[in-house]
Amino acid sequence: MEEILDNSILDAPKIVVTPPGPRSAEILKQQEELETSALNYPKYFSIAVKEAKGSTIVDVDNNVYIDWFAGIAVVNLGHNNPIIRQAVDSQLDKIWHYMEIPTEIRIEFMKTLRRTLNFDAKFLFTTTGADAVEAAVKIARWNSGKRYIIAFNEAYHGVSAATIGLSNMLNHRKFQPYYDNNVIRLPYPYEYRCPFKDCLNEVLSLVDYEMKNNDVAGIIVEPVAGEGGYIVPPKGFLKGLREITTEYNVPLIIDEIQTGVGRTGKIWAYEWEGIKPDIVTISKGIGEGIPISLVAFNKDLDKLPQAFHLGTYRGNPIGMAVGNATLNYIMNSNLLERVITLGDFTKKRFDEIMEDNYKQGKYDVRGLGFMIGIEFSNERKDPISVKPFIDILLKKGIIMYKSGIYDNVLRYMAPLTIPKLLIDRGLEKFEETIKLSNQIKI
Ligand SMILES: Cc1ncc(COP(=O)(O)O)c(C=O)c1O
Repeated sequence: MEEILDNSILDAPKIVVTPPGPRSAEILKQQEELETSALNYPKYFSIAVKEAKGSTIVDVDNNVYIDWFAGIAVVNLGHNNPIIRQAVDSQLDKIWHYMEIPTEIRIEFMKTLRRTLNFDAKFLFTTTGADAVEAAVKIARWNSGKRYIIAFNEAYHGVSAATIGLSNMLNHRKFQPYYDNNVIRLPYPYEYRCPFKDCLNEVLSLVDYEMKNNDVAGIIVEPVAGEGGYIVPPKGFLKGLREITTEYNVPLIIDEIQTGVGRTGKIWAYEWEGIKPDIVTISKGIGEGIPISLVAFNKDLDKLPQAFHLGTYRGNPIGMAVGNATLNYIMNSNLLERVITLGDFTKKRFDEIMEDNYKQGKYDVRGLGFMIGIEFSNERKDPISVKPFIDILLKKGIIMYKSGIYDNVLRYMAPLTIPKLLIDRGLEKFEETIKLSNQIKI
């Protein structure tokens, strides 16, 4: 068993000047002058970053933050992890780019990936998460010869022209109103807000109804809805979808872009339901920050013609070296047990803190592994924006981001290697924030 390698700055958080400090403010100003007004994240985190180690970030004014954001669930093994660094370094000495012409690392990575999957997989490399989703849907339509894709209400599968129709982020849709609308949208079994008595079975019966009555090419689903609000569906959901798709003989696409690579305590979150998918989309954690993504799909679906899905940068060798090192590390360490134990602990503490301190309204704490969401609402129908909480947390040295289609969920998505000490310190700051929110009535 390998030890959990972590190089976090252990006396974090350390705020020496209230963010944004003068140097951060200057760099943010320059960014505003140079870069598009369409930026999103600097509107939440008004800092400029100097460096990052493990689960800690240092800004250019030398403030040290605990990172519960992980570059949006990407650096699962922490920033600047020595194992990942070594994988990058050794690949840099070999080759960085040569299209699909095979390299040793390409073959090795695919063999390692196969060991983690429970079906006989073949692979198609892509570049971003949205690109992988686009390719997955293309594979489903090509194989079934059918048209519609079933996707869910709290889904996020990307915002490219081909994926925005699958995602249900209404403000993003507004920006490109002419999207692929060959999508049948159904409710996700979101128990906190579910209008049905028996949420799981009602949703499954809607899926069955649409399958029976439409030209459905496949279903795409997140095992835990990520951008939609860290919603964990009831047990039996994926199994139910598996049974229905098998009955109608169409592919089940599991989008593991956010849930995969250990984030829920299994390498792939679909393992929690013991199902075998037909197609899996993979990105984020597999590259640890190096842009790489891919589709793993059952070899029976590999009836794809030459040049079916093109793109210059698909399958970057440095990304493959990182992916290979990441999966080997996960398989040879106790990281997954750690995610389950610490994930349960952290969720319980969030629940206790909310129960003891939050007097403003209603809330829901939920999650699986290191995907934990805290939803805020006065009544279930009346969401409370979490932006003010994010601001207070940042000033206290905690980087925590939002989620949910109403922007009313705070989410915990720290690197999986975070030391327990930094979870405890972050929770202290979280408790102070919730107490303060009562006083200032946000
Ligand atoms: C589940 C899921 N699918 C797809 C995507 C899109 O990935 P990308 O942002 O790399 O296009 C995301 C991104 O957050 C995601 O969480």
